Formats: sequence, C-alpha cells, structure tokens
Amino acid sequence: VVGKWASQLGMRVFLVGGIVRDLLLGHKQKDLDIVVEGDALVLAQEVGKTLSAIKFIPHERFKTASIILKNGQKIDFSTSRVEFYQHPAALPEVEVSTIREDLYRRDFTINSMAIEITYGHTGELFDPFGGLLDLREGIIRVLHNLSFVEDPTRILRALRFLGRFNFKLEENTEKLLVDAIAGGFLHLVSPARILYELKLIFAEKDILKILKFLKHYGVFQEVFPKAFYEEDYLRRYFNYTVEYFRLLKETNIPWLHGVMGVYAKNLEGIEEFIKKYPLTGEEEEVLRQGALGIKEALKLLSLPREVKGVEIFETLTKLPPEGYWALYLLLDRFRARERFKTYFEELRFIKPEITGEDLKALGLKPGPLYREILHKIKMLKIDGVLKNKD
Ligand code: CTP
Repeated sequence: VVGKWASQLGMRVFLVGGIVRDLLLGHKQKDLDIVVEGDALVLAQEVGKTLSAIKFIPHERFKTASIILKNGQKIDFSTSRVEFYQHPAALPEVEVSTIREDLYRRDFTINSMAIEITYGHTGELFDPFGGLLDLREGIIRVLHNLSFVEDPTRILRALRFLGRFNFKLEENTEKLLVDAIAGGFLHLVSPARILYELKLIFAEKDILKILKFLKHYGVFQEVFPKAFYEEDYLRRYFNYTVEYFRLLKETNIPWLHGVMGVYAKNLEGIEEFIKKYPLTGEEEEVLRQGALGIKEALKLLSLPREVKGVEIFETLTKLPPEGYWALYLLLDRFRARERFKTYFEELRFIKPEITGEDLKALGLKPGPLYREILHKIKMLKIDGVLKNKD
C-alpha cells in the first residue's frame, strides 16, 4: 500500500534503520520506519486512509507523521532529511534531502541501510556505507568522526548494540567513543535523554553484558551515580533470567527492577539517581520505598530470634515488587531466604476470607471497625492461629 501510494504521488519510499538491519539478520522488529523522498505527511495521510488507521499523528515542523493501525502496528513516516547541529548534543536543525543524505546522518553503518519499497522497485537494498558487510562481520562503525560528538547518546546506543548482538567496535569507532567519553560529551546530554537510553538498556535481554561495557568504558558511574558495581552480584541479579523474568512480570514499572539491581549494593546511592533524572512521582516512590523496604527487610529477616509471620508481612508489604529480587539476592543466610520465600509464596496472598458483607450479615453496623476486623483476621491467619474459616 505504501509503495503504491508513493509511486502514484511520484515519491520514492524506503524502509530504513533498525528494521532493515533486523530483516537482514532474520530478527523480528515491530517498528516500521519509512523514509520518503517527498512529503511524508501527504503519504502518511493517504496510506492511513487506505488502511483505516485509527490514529494519524503529524509533526509539521519535522515533516514526519505516524499512523497507528487497528492491530496496534505503528508506522513512522519521515521526509528524507539532513540534520545540522548548531552545537554538540543539541537537537538538530532539519532540511529536506535525498535518501543518501538521510542515511548519512545516522549512527552506525548497520543502521544506515535502506530497502526501497516504491512500487516497481521493491526490495532494492541501498547500502552506501558498507552496512551489510559490517553486519556480516559483526562490527559497529560510525559513519564519520563527529558522530559521537554530535549525538553523544550514540555512546550508549553503541554499547547497547554491542551487548545485544555480540558485535565488536571497529577500531577507529572505539577510539572516537573513548575520546567522546573522555571529552565529557555525555555531560552535555539532557538527563531525560540519558534516562530514555537507560530504559532501553533495561529492556534488553542481556543487561549484564551492557552494564559490563558501561563499566569497561567508564560510563557506569556517570549514568548511575553512586551505584556500586559488583559484577558478581550483578551477574546473579541479571543472569538468573528465569527468576528475573518471573519477578519482572509482577512489577508495575519493569525497568525500575533494573535500577534496583544496579543500586542494591549501595542503597543510599539511589537518592542520587532520583536527583539526576526526571522521574515521575510514582517512579520516585517505588525507588525510595524499594531502598527503604530492602533495608528494613534485611534487618528483620536476618534476626537470629524467632520472627513472626505478622512481622514479616508488615515489613515486606511495604516493599514494592521491583525490590524483591534485589532483596532476595542480598540475603545470605538460608533461614532469611526461607523467610522471604514464605512471604513471597504464601503470606502476601492470604486474604481474611470473610468480607464486609459477612460482617453485615452478622448484624454489625458498617463503619471503620470493618477494616480493623478484617485486618485483624488476616493477621491472625498469617500467624496460623485461624487455620480456616471455621
Ligand atoms: N538513529 C541515529 N541516532 C540516534 C538514534 C537513532 O542515527 N541517536 C537512527 C538509526 O538509523 C536507527 C534509527 O534512527 O536505526 C531508528 O532509531 P531507533 O528506533 O531508536 O533504533 P533501532 O535501530 O530501530 O534500534 P532498536 O532495535 O533498539 O529499536
């Protein structure tokens, strides 16, 4: 549909960027990025109408538009462009250009290929910078020497791709990356953009590998201020993937699970992370409660004396799920771990088994007393006093 409309409108269209790389690797990609030699807004509108898109989101200024189809698929259209950077790390000024120039403004050769999809030319690969060869050989290579300076977030992108694909940095690219880091170019990037990159890192499969690269190139401390890098802990945290992903499903904000892991060995440091990045109120709350909850739980679960179910429940109920795995791995005694497991597998699911309705049926007047009674019953159950409803 895109190709047909483009040729009717006299435009050339191309798939570009990550999707081309992933198609060539045989990997799945859900984002469709399309570059148009022509007005992307006009094309997006026509395609959107033909495919009955449920949303059309134009950005006049950047000459880009996104459409969202009924099945949730998003397609981004942009007019091929060159970008000018007024100063390092600034957002670029934009000017219309050809596909070749559009590809030249991109980060790495493997991300700078295009496949033409104009009707009649479908399937032609545009690879002006040798991306295919680098993809075959597993190499991350910038297109020009100023790449990391113009956009220092590419430092983090490079390390993320290294980890994801198990690739290597081309020699000159590595030198440029090291120089850009030493030159402090990452400081010029807004915390919001760094945070965006960190969220992408925590959405990767092999997070540890990327953290190792961050450490190796001296970026870890910069992006996670005051975090204590202990590889052994991080390995256990991010590599027990079965446990990790099981717990991840329970979290409301999965990427914070990653942050809790990174800060587990210096929980105080989490305040620096909160200070540095523009987080939502809820994100801040989860991190603070996470750090506090872990500290309190560590104390309680490691006590040599008998610890009651109610005590465990009351302490751990304050810990958001984003902190469970960090806590569990910090517990070094069998007994403490067993206590955590009791909470994790049993205590937190215990219900009072009677409801306000039951209390009403007993003739009790509705009021604050209800909550108190229900809570009390739950606590008694937790302590094993009330074995069942009878
Ligand atoms: N790009 C770039 N410099 C950046 C970000 C993006 O040159 N700082 C270009 C690359 O060509 C990239 C494309 O924009 O392929 C799309 O960016 P994005 O969707 O962020 O990355 P993908 O390559 O699709 O990677 P991922 O698989 O992680 O989505």
